Amino acid sequence: MRTMKIHVTGYEMKSPEILEPTRVMAISDVHENSRMFAGITALVRDTRPDYLCLVGDTLDHSGSDGASVIEWLKDLAKLTKVVITIGNHEMVALGRGFFGMFRRPQVRENHEFYKTVEGIKNCALLKEQFSVYEATPWLTFSALNMPENWYQRGLEDQKEFDAAVAAIPKNALQKKNYNIMLSHSPGGFLMGGRLRTKEAVPILDKVDLVLSGHHHAGLVPLALRKLMAKRGFFGPRYLVGQPHAYGMWERDGRYLILSGGVTKFAESSGVGGLGHWLNKRFKPEAEDIWLLPDVGKGANRNGKRVKQGK
Ligand SMILES: [Fe+2]
Ligand SMILES: [Fe+2]
Repeated sequence: MRTMKIHVTGYEMKSPEILEPTRVMAISDVHENSRMFAGITALVRDTRPDYLCLVGDTLDHSGSDGASVIEWLKDLAKLTKVVITIGNHEMVALGRGFFGMFRRPQVRENHEFYKTVEGIKNCALLKEQFSVYEATPWLTFSALNMPENWYQRGLEDQKEFDAAVAAIPKNALQKKNYNIMLSHSPGGFLMGGRLRTKEAVPILDKVDLVLSGHHHAGLVPLALRKLMAKRGFFGPRYLVGQPHAYGMWERDGRYLILSGGVTKFAESSGVGGLGHWLNKRFKPEAEDIWLLPDVGKGANRNGKRVKQGK
């Protein structure tokens, strides 16, 4: 099987809270696509990021119990620290079977898949509605995992999201740290094409950078990307040209980077054998994020896209 090349977008994030140069690779929506495993492993081997963040939908709901993913995670964890959170597909995939519907809310507590992942050395699993992983004394990863209903039936309801934010314990994150939050869908953070304010989403007072996926880049060819970056042709919930499909948003020194994802057409997308062909046309994507200390006079926080890979 030929290894598929991954299209990498580079970013530089500067902040006085960052104490040493650190490289974070963000990958979303692998969808248990074994054709991509080798490509991602090769990318990690070549670039040697300090952290690899898997931002959800690593499994696919039409897939298996994640056995192949576990073997792949073990390989990755030999190369870098893997920070993994969950997407809507994990919740469905691991909640199936007898009484599946009833088990779903409890899936993250007791499923064998998560127990195994938790046991992998060098792998940090962020599976609770709100989870924290303190990577270094200055760098913290956290995750906000909305329940399956929020995605499927709630249509990413803003009020429900705001309630989940309000439920985050007050001292869970330290303002003096550089805080990266993984949130599979950017839905709760973006509104009307903009990142919401700290007043609207209070955790943004502490979170410096949100990493998301879920939108599969809006499934538009790369040539149309410039046009589609902030708005879709058909919105707000159409697959082609949906808003907030990929890119970077900034507001008041807070950032959100939305990955276009690795697998555009998953096994569960219903396009069958066409999926593999389509996935070759819509390139798999990863976000290569450099965290850089800003210690100069008037040290400030800022972020920018530095390169678009081929
Ligand atoms: Fe996905
Ligand atoms: Fe998703």
